[in-house]
Amino acid sequence: MKNITSKELRNVWLKFYESKGHINIGSVSLIGDGTTGVMFNVAGMQPLMPYLLGEPHPQGKRLCNIQGCVRTVDIDSVGDESHCTFFEMMGNWSLGDYFKKEKTAWTFEILTKKFGLDPQKICCTVFAGNDNVPRDLETAELLENLGIKKENIYFLGKEDNWWELAGTTGTPCGPDNEWFYPLTDEKCSDNCDINCKCNRFIEIGNDVYMQYEKLEDGYKPLKNKNVDTGFGFERMLMFLNGLRDVYMTDLFWPIVDYIQKCIGAKYGENDSQTKSIRIIADHIRTSLMLIGDKNGIVPSNVGAGYILRRLLRRAIRHAKKINLNTSELSKLCTIFIDQIYAEAYPNLIEKKDYIVSEIEKEVDKFNKTIEVGIKEFDKVVSGIYRKIEFMKKSNPDYDENVDKIITGKSAFRLYDTFGFPIEMTIEMASEIGLRVDEEGFKKAFEEHQQLARTTSAGSFKSGLAGNGEMETKYHTATHLLNAALKHIIGKESHQMGSNITSERLRFDFSCDHKMTEEEIKQTQDLVNEWIAEKLDITCEEMPKEKAVESGAEHQFIERYPDLVSVYTIGNVSKEICTGPHVKNTGELGKFIIKKEEASSSGVRRIKAILQ
Ligand code: ALA
Repeated sequence: MKNITSKELRNVWLKFYESKGHINIGSVSLIGDGTTGVMFNVAGMQPLMPYLLGEPHPQGKRLCNIQGCVRTVDIDSVGDESHCTFFEMMGNWSLGDYFKKEKTAWTFEILTKKFGLDPQKICCTVFAGNDNVPRDLETAELLENLGIKKENIYFLGKEDNWWELAGTTGTPCGPDNEWFYPLTDEKCSDNCDINCKCNRFIEIGNDVYMQYEKLEDGYKPLKNKNVDTGFGFERMLMFLNGLRDVYMTDLFWPIVDYIQKCIGAKYGENDSQTKSIRIIADHIRTSLMLIGDKNGIVPSNVGAGYILRRLLRRAIRHAKKINLNTSELSKLCTIFIDQIYAEAYPNLIEKKDYIVSEIEKEVDKFNKTIEVGIKEFDKVVSGIYRKIEFMKKSNPDYDENVDKIITGKSAFRLYDTFGFPIEMTIEMASEIGLRVDEEGFKKAFEEHQQLARTTSAGSFKSGLAGNGEMETKYHTATHLLNAALKHIIGKESHQMGSNITSERLRFDFSCDHKMTEEEIKQTQDLVNEWIAEKLDITCEEMPKEKAVESGAEHQFIERYPDLVSVYTIGNVSKEICTGPHVKNTGELGKFIIKKEEASSSGVRRIKAILQ
């Protein structure tokens, strides 16, 4: 069958199942109601869960619809020919009414009679059985009797032919029968079948025989034997029109065509551009569906609102990437609503102005920071490459991959100051072969939240800013370094300044020469020796004169209050300091000097980390 429109496909599906006694129950909100713990509706069966588990449905035992779903787990795959974050599922259900005999016959009938598929070419997979559930010989026999070739029926295990909602319990599930069709008759080899990696076959849908409830530790039979059918609407439309690219169906083509005209490029000619066009089309569609939904959401920094923000911001970045003016994004939104979804989603027409204005708001907001953010990103990247160049020159065995990483702190700055979702930074980094320290980002994020909480709780004391666990360690390491330098450089070496973050310490000290490799190594070794000795750190309060008399290290004595804290580390170091410090040097880990450089005349600077 060729040239079926999306409108026709909707009608064929619903009319066919209505003719078999099903009631079209329409679709529900895309936003999860919280009962299954998922953020969005991910399958046609999701809102029907209580009825599949046995509660009577007010509209009867035979139901059908076309239900919108949002699945963002595959968001990184969007940009290829077929992945979408929003899609529709054509479904029908038997709630303890008909079972395998009718279901196999009707799916066969709609595929061969309504969609014109050749029964000789249809392939099916059925459940091979396991310890809990028997092999589905019944379905295989029914399929064979309908005219599907025996050699086209495959028995597969749980990974392939068992359907359940991942990560849930107390939900209905069961073995399924999946339907496949070849996109071409050209075999890539004699063994080219549905398992072949060449993707000659496309899975067009599945019939789940929901007869079990998923428990914590197994499965129990349900009161009713149900049927849950799901056929992907976009995929079916693509396949029936002889296409391999869902973005060329009438659900997307007006958008793709508009974008290609705007940027004066031809869709499909350049891979990276084509990918961006698909991402923009997909993400704008999902965004408008989420904003225009009956329980519509708006972009925000938490939960579903954050997913929406991510989608829109990613679309904005890809628009910039292909030189599509970001003001066109709301135009795409109106094309979707007016030309593509007006009939199937009349609520979108009603809410059109609102949807467009919400999208424009987010575009304006992100437009204010994205350019500067991208510049900042570029700066971070050139910093990384400068370092790599330097390291390459100084060490022939240096492995540059070690440093091909954007720090969690930089990623957090891009997030916090410029509104870059972490996923966006990761995507931008991966486009140029860099990684992002995601753990470090999480840590920076949590530290920031912790700080925000402390600040708002009013318990924030100045001087303790940013004193997380790592900063505390670096404070103590600074004292050890200061003491070590007095041994290696000489007693005349004094602290001239210091700066600590959660990732490193920076220490300035008086010294009249560039430290030799040997001196650097000795200093580092000495600090590590003291760490290995597991020295206790004690703190004593005393008048500052007394502290100075006792020989405690200090910087600008006139700046200290009259009563000061003196921190003593074993018999290694004694310093006036506001802290905080760890209790024992054994907590510090390994001390590594990363850099020794000039700071100003007569002052050297060391950067060091703890590992
Ligand atoms: N519940 C089945 C699916 O989502 C039909 O594929």
